[in-house]
Amino acid sequence: MSPTILYFDTIDAMSRAAAGRVCELARDSVAAHGSFTIALSGGSTPRALYERLTQSPYREDVPWQQTHLFWGDERFVPRDHAENNAAMAFDALIRHVSIPAEQTHPAPTELDTPEAAADAYQMTLREHLTAFDPSSKEKGVPVFDLILLGMGKDGHTASLFPGSPALDEEARWVVATPIPGLSPFARRVTLTFPVINAAKHVLFLISGQEKRPILEEIIYHLEQALAHYPAARVKPDGALNWFVA
Ligand code: 6PG
Repeated sequence: MSPTILYFDTIDAMSRAAAGRVCELARDSVAAHGSFTIALSGGSTPRALYERLTQSPYREDVPWQQTHLFWGDERFVPRDHAENNAAMAFDALIRHVSIPAEQTHPAPTELDTPEAAADAYQMTLREHLTAFDPSSKEKGVPVFDLILLGMGKDGHTASLFPGSPALDEEARWVVATPIPGLSPFARRVTLTFPVINAAKHVLFLISGQEKRPILEEIIYHLEQALAHYPAARVKPDGALNWFVA
């Protein structure tokens, strides 16, 4: 399935379109297998989407009782730290909607090491495998209904950074990664490409003109981009959409 790309004049317009897409996929997923599993992305771009989902008509449209929230990656900082991705989502979205607490699954950054957090998060995915698309069983990997991703100005996505050994991980679903060359300079916990590329839908939310050259290389010169930019390796079994503002 070829990727699609949509350009928006503002982050607000992109966030409204993304909120509509989340609602559509949530409804379809619940109709298809009784639940909706989504991996949230971090950074700053998705905040406007998360806030939009707390507002009408989106708030009433998402089947929160059947929704399971995970994260595509997390900075290994305490939950109440300003750079914790889950903290941002709790503040912008989760505490404003009626999703059951037991269906929100932040990475356990309270553990002693990023490696321990990665192991525990992999167990969390395994424990909740029945919430995922039924094809997860035959594929032997959690098949998310939707994975939200961003892209950094070095072409990283989730916490898969250029040159990281995590880029070539083929067995593990979650790994710990070293401190990257970009802020925030914290060790990370991230989903790996086997999970990202098993997804039924991947939606990139990209903001910032400085990322456009990388984006265009990925879209129009993929072979070249694969050598430099981890985001180029996102080629899901399902649909890939780029929303760009
Ligand atoms: C993180 C994110 C990361 C983010 C990009 C883009 O933990 O930092 O998951 O992959 O999506 O860095 O961030 P912005 O969209 O805020 O530029």
